[in-house]
Amino acid sequence: MKSETKTEAINVFLEETRNFSPPESFRKSAWVRDEKVYETARRNPEAFWASFAEELVWIRKWDRVLEWNPPDAKWFVGGKLNISVNCVDRWAKSELRNKAAIIWEGEPGEERTLTYWDLYREVNKFANALKKLGLKKGDRVTVYLPMIPEAAIAMLACARIGAVHSVVFGGFSAESLRDRINDAQARVLITADGGYRRGKIITLKREADEALKGTPSIQHVVIVKRGEFPLEIKEGRDHWWHRLIEGAESYCEPEAMDSEDMLYTLYTSGTTGKPKGIIHTTGGYLTGVYATTKWVFDLRPHDVYWCTADVGWVTGHSYIVYGPLANGATVFMYEGAPDWPEKDRFWQLIEKYGITIFYTAPTAIRAFMKWGTEWPARRNLSSLRLLGSVGEPINPEAWIWYHQNIGRGNCPVVDTWWQTETGMILITPLPGVTTLKPGSATKPFPGIEACVMNEKGQRVEVGGGYLAITKPWPAMLRGIYGDPERYQKQYWSKWPNIYFPSDGAKLDENGYFWLLGRVDDVLNVAGHRIGTMEVESALVDHPTVAEAAVVGKPHEIKGETLVAFVTLKDVGAPFGGARPSQVQGQAQGLPLQKLAQELKDHVAKKIGSIARPEDIIFSADLPKTRSGKIMRRLLKNIAEGKVLGDTTTLADSEVVNRLKQQYEEEG
Ligand code: PRX
Repeated sequence: MKSETKTEAINVFLEETRNFSPPESFRKSAWVRDEKVYETARRNPEAFWASFAEELVWIRKWDRVLEWNPPDAKWFVGGKLNISVNCVDRWAKSELRNKAAIIWEGEPGEERTLTYWDLYREVNKFANALKKLGLKKGDRVTVYLPMIPEAAIAMLACARIGAVHSVVFGGFSAESLRDRINDAQARVLITADGGYRRGKIITLKREADEALKGTPSIQHVVIVKRGEFPLEIKEGRDHWWHRLIEGAESYCEPEAMDSEDMLYTLYTSGTTGKPKGIIHTTGGYLTGVYATTKWVFDLRPHDVYWCTADVGWVTGHSYIVYGPLANGATVFMYEGAPDWPEKDRFWQLIEKYGITIFYTAPTAIRAFMKWGTEWPARRNLSSLRLLGSVGEPINPEAWIWYHQNIGRGNCPVVDTWWQTETGMILITPLPGVTTLKPGSATKPFPGIEACVMNEKGQRVEVGGGYLAITKPWPAMLRGIYGDPERYQKQYWSKWPNIYFPSDGAKLDENGYFWLLGRVDDVLNVAGHRIGTMEVESALVDHPTVAEAAVVGKPHEIKGETLVAFVTLKDVGAPFGGARPSQVQGQAQGLPLQKLAQELKDHVAKKIGSIARPEDIIFSADLPKTRSGKIMRRLLKNIAEGKVLGDTTTLADSEVVNRLKQQYEEEG
């Protein structure tokens, strides 16, 4: 390299790795400008959280801020409120009445804007429609919709009448939908005739019909008409959304919900084959998402805020619907893919709507990097003032790329760590005060106590270990639907009275947190949480599969992908004449390749395409301990191309050596 070019490269590097203090222009008007907030909150966290709760509308004020009988927390005890009133009525009856609450664009390009008044009317009407279907406080409603405003309206309407919503991501299969409906014993399903993704039609109602063959609890199905999609209507059970609200009253008295009444359940993957329904309640949840939306995204009245998540995930619940609307924000919602019709769709939307706050996932950022800087470069992104990241660890390179190419060097990047279970962001910068370090989620939000611990529950001052949350927080999960024991065991049994999130973390010499990913059998593929056991159960459900073990393998864009090691049953299957015990590898002729494809499709059909394995490795055996436990660690090493670790506990160490050799030979 010529020396000038080298100096130039070094300068660019220095420029990029300079001190990421908040820009003065940002700091000047930020909600939080003084680091003292951390100390104030630490001294009296209950008063700190109560100060945010005071900013909400209560029907009856709470008697006590917190009742903590580990692992059971009650926040704002005795308080009564309704979340839809806080998110909608409050603004619809103020000077913000005509402000845009939701600006939406469909993938094919349709536009819709709902002012707070419009949203108020829609939520009230739909709440009345739900009541007409016989729904009462406490009943469960499953929501299976594309990214359309009706998703938010449906959630808010449930909240208004006290029904518990369970939103299922539209990419999940019929079978996943059925299991979630049955676990929650939902009485109503809200879906759509279809939606658009990357130019294709997603036929949601058809998937739903498949699920509805095995969901005895469902009495009514409400269908949003999104387009002209083919579908079947079952008279008596199925109702068009637009017909239901035609005659509905425009005001529905909001239910006075106890602070601890259930707001929603959301299913998420864990270490067993069955996803668990995480329970969130009302007062504490709203306070937590309200506070974090306000301070982390530094929401101002003129902002146009865009979180690219799907409402089917917790990010959509907390930071598309409840947090922003409780702040009276303008939320932008987009239905489709970032690369449709071209790879600059997101940047075109930012330019068109003057988006000021943009919150997305590292997987998306890495895809943008791959597509090239020319796509964002051709658009005017100067409206942006804050960028966010969520869902997976962000690598410093992606962070810097995001900061430079999307934020044009002017926007603080908030890397926010949290989970379905935490309900709200727990580790994050405060953009007006925190000096950022690319790749670090920085520090716990004020009022949150977190640390890094070793196996014995001793604090690690500097270095790596397990992330631990040592004090309760308002939006914390209140349990697992129908399974209190699992709640205790999963989250509160590693150390006494301390929440265990199952994430690894490192603390640096400045007390900054660096999140390292999951330490359990949960994988994070493109920011989606997938349990290895879930995928294994789907695989062994196939008639040819005897045993399966699924591990993660690093992936340039998705962070991780799934690799499945599979042994086959002796079912006289067409393996080119070979017995299953002789079957090795993935590329031995067409029958095996075909079977690998079939197994991938099978998983996608059982769970959803987010769980489709990238590689299937056939093997005569899987490495097991003498007690018969599959040694996933070794399989992971094989998938990652690493040196094999300790194999002395294996029943047959040859198995793993053969597999490694085979995997390497097949590249
Ligand atoms: O491993 C952590 C990772 O995502 C997991 C939670 O996934 P889920 O419940 O689906 O919620 C995702 C959106 C909040 C965590 O256990 N994770 C989430 N955010 C980050 C992260 N890992 C590193 N850095 C983050 N900012």
